[in-house]
Amino acid sequence: MTEISNVARLSDPLKFAYWVPNVSGGLVVSTIEQRTGWDFEYNKKLARIAENSGFEYALTQTRYAASYGADKQHEATSFSLALLAATERLKVISAVHPGMWHPGVLAKFIITADHISNGRAAVNIVSGWLKAEFENFGLEWLEHDERYVRTEEFIKVLRGLWTEQDFSQSGKYYNIADFTLQPAPVDVPGRAHPEIFFGGNSTAAQATAGRVADWYFSNGKDLEGFKENIAGVVAAAGETRRGTEGALPAALSSHLPALPAPRFGLNGFVIARDSEKEARDTLREIVAKAHKPAVEGFRAAVQEAGASTKDGKGMWADSSFEDLVQYNDGFKTQLIGTPEQIAERIVEFKKIGVNLFLTGYLHFQEEVAAFGQDILPIVRDLEADLARKNGTELNLSGTPAANAGSTSGLVNA
Ligand SMILES: Cc1cc2nc3c(=O)[nH]c(=O)nc-3n(C[C@H](O)[C@H](O)[C@H](O)COP(=O)(O)O)c2cc1C
Repeated sequence: MTEISNVARLSDPLKFAYWVPNVSGGLVVSTIEQRTGWDFEYNKKLARIAENSGFEYALTQTRYAASYGADKQHEATSFSLALLAATERLKVISAVHPGMWHPGVLAKFIITADHISNGRAAVNIVSGWLKAEFENFGLEWLEHDERYVRTEEFIKVLRGLWTEQDFSQSGKYYNIADFTLQPAPVDVPGRAHPEIFFGGNSTAAQATAGRVADWYFSNGKDLEGFKENIAGVVAAAGETRRGTEGALPAALSSHLPALPAPRFGLNGFVIARDSEKEARDTLREIVAKAHKPAVEGFRAAVQEAGASTKDGKGMWADSSFEDLVQYNDGFKTQLIGTPEQIAERIVEFKKIGVNLFLTGYLHFQEEVAAFGQDILPIVRDLEADLARKNGTELNLSGTPAANAGSTSGLVNA
């Protein structure tokens, strides 16, 4: 039985996101059949299915060059904006690299996207691992931990420009003087500005996320592995006196913004089948049909991530060949089995502090709809039980309901 961590929020329902397949090749580097398109029409339909199936967020990927199974890619911010325009409730998180963007230009872009979507734009700040993308663009490739120094400054500029007038910040990478962006982002109750997600696993990533991100996103992990990451992020948040509940009074800190405590999102590749055996057989088939040269090439490239740090910890640093077939370690989370088994596993992660699951699938449209229909209701029942047993209630107000529209019609249309 998993112990309930003091960062777990038992009355808050788990949130669900899916990876936008905006790069070709699907989410696994394998020749197994993947009924997943990377074009806009496929994605538009997928986004509508997702928002009618209880998904609150979609996350785009940013990749510029053909690499490791992703031969073609649509640019993340423009694709996200188009998905926002095509949906009504879905929040779309754009992945962006500091080093490719100036934070002021991005802040402005996202404000416009926020207005077009009535307050549904968000960002995922990723510090990068694909050295060739930067070098071949003629951009500087910073050493691993230095990338996070830049990322931290970048996020502070974004937040400053979204929340302050006459904002100034001078640092090693950015110098902003007396800048006011008008309009400001949409005023959404309960949200200070477009949400800032942050992806990374290394020690430097955890520290940066703990200090400045709204959400810490991780590659797939098992329970023990993710507990460690949460502890690292919480420790850094504590050093900056970020609250565990709500925002701290601004007066407590003159040089750091008063931020609510960070929340935690975990990646998991979902293989839900009628029997556990069928689900495990599917995993075996994915791995057996892995595109070996692409997976090995990817393994070599990602040595620039966690493996290149002093303590050797971080993303992909301890990943096996099988793990890397899903390039964000999604099998490690083990969302594999029957809907009941997956729902139970998901709620075990809630106990350690996970607030959001980022999910991937072989056949996105069908399986996102099936997730909403078969897994989500069981998750909600288990969450309600867990809350009650611990003296609280699950508060579902404000949570997108599964099956709010007809999803089956959309899948077959
Ligand atoms: C949820 C998630 C999404 C990510 N999306 C992207 C992406 O779209 N493009 C990219 O280049 N890197 C992406 N990354 C990888 C990060 O850029 C970074 O290289 C990686 O997290 C390694 O960090 P580490 O060395 O600090 O562990 C993502 C990471 C996570 C956890």
